[in-house]
Amino acid sequence: MSASRATAALDVEALRPDFPILDTRLPNGAPLIYFDSAASSQRPRQVIQSLVDMYEKHYANVHRGIHWLSDQSTNRYEEARGRVQRFINAADSCELIFTHGTTESINLVARSWGDANLGPGDEILLTVMEHHSNIVPWQQAAARTGAVVRWIPLTGDGRLDLSTLDDRLTEKTRIVAVTAVSNVLGTINPLETIIRRAHEVGALVLVDAAQSAPHLPLDVQAMNADFVAFSGHKMMGPTGVGVLYGRQVLLERMPPFLGGGSMIRRVKLDGFEPADLPAKFEAGTPPIVSAVGLGVAIDYLEQVGLAGIHEHERQLTIRAHQVLREAGGVRFLGPEPEEKAGIVSFTVEGVHAHDVAQLLDRHGIAVRAGHHCTMPLHKALGINASTRASFYLYNTLDEVDKLGEALVQVKRVFRRK
Ligand SMILES: Cc1ncc(COP(=O)(O)O)c(C=O)c1O
Repeated sequence: MSASRATAALDVEALRPDFPILDTRLPNGAPLIYFDSAASSQRPRQVIQSLVDMYEKHYANVHRGIHWLSDQSTNRYEEARGRVQRFINAADSCELIFTHGTTESINLVARSWGDANLGPGDEILLTVMEHHSNIVPWQQAAARTGAVVRWIPLTGDGRLDLSTLDDRLTEKTRIVAVTAVSNVLGTINPLETIIRRAHEVGALVLVDAAQSAPHLPLDVQAMNADFVAFSGHKMMGPTGVGVLYGRQVLLERMPPFLGGGSMIRRVKLDGFEPADLPAKFEAGTPPIVSAVGLGVAIDYLEQVGLAGIHEHERQLTIRAHQVLREAGGVRFLGPEPEEKAGIVSFTVEGVHAHDVAQLLDRHGIAVRAGHHCTMPLHKALGINASTRASFYLYNTLDEVDKLGEALVQVKRVFRRK
């Protein structure tokens, strides 16, 4: 593009040339249709070029040197933190920790806050739709501390059953860890209600924003979240960088997660003193260049506009339901398309999810198949696997129509068998 040319209604044709990978053809000649952005998005030239620029012109280790180049690098790294702060409206940039991704961000909280604050009989409240990244660290914390994991179940249409909150939220609940958007169902969870109810019993709330930060506005002060985790690679940034937001007062009271260089104020033979925030939680050399690239991805997202992106994805999702329904034999997982994020997971009668994905791949269509790191959710739905098409700002209605046509072909192949 220029991202700035794409205003409120998203001008997809103007921004697609920013994504060189979308010109890819598979070895069989089929043009790539990328419907796997929930696993990892593609990134625009602006982000890719920022990585090259950083390595070619500005790169040195951060916070270490007293030399000019290290200052340049440090300034860019810290500017990226400032961009993340503005993007999610955090009160102070010290509340933003650069991690390697959502998984590490959640592990940081489960280890550091969890080990210091959980004890036998305390309760950790999760939901059945969580990604394994927001389950396993809590199961590990429970095993270490004697705390107990409890669950918010789902309604028949793939939402959280909030009628269970009266029972699940008690004075024993120490933390609620919940996803903002399900990576399978596309459900957009009512975070403000959950956070308010959790705070009423004195529990903290961690929001897994891996699937929402790339697509929906995120205001950590308005939502009153205690911790928020997300990944750069799902929001057009590079791999290897993620964010943990934590309220300053909480982060200050928490012990460091990893020990090493940069996270200390002083080290003596008999111990150490941790550094101030955010360095306390950024041990070792951080993902410097990836963080700078994430800052550029955020600029891009803001220039295009999250409102336009969300509406565009809604249109793609509505069309996807329509064309897949017309193909026949499809069971959709999750709420109605008008009400969910740009994620369409489904099963096809008589065809295994892996076969669906493999055959769609022959048409150049990249979708994901399997349990999508949500085995408890798939068990609750009574299935082992599903096929997932997930959309982003660069996808078109025409591509979605091709998904419908390809599924008709897939079903033909299986009818012949
Ligand atoms: C909802 C959700 N949480 C957490 C993760 C883990 O993210 P990462 O692999 O970037 O750490 C994902 C990735 O798919 C996700 O969809």
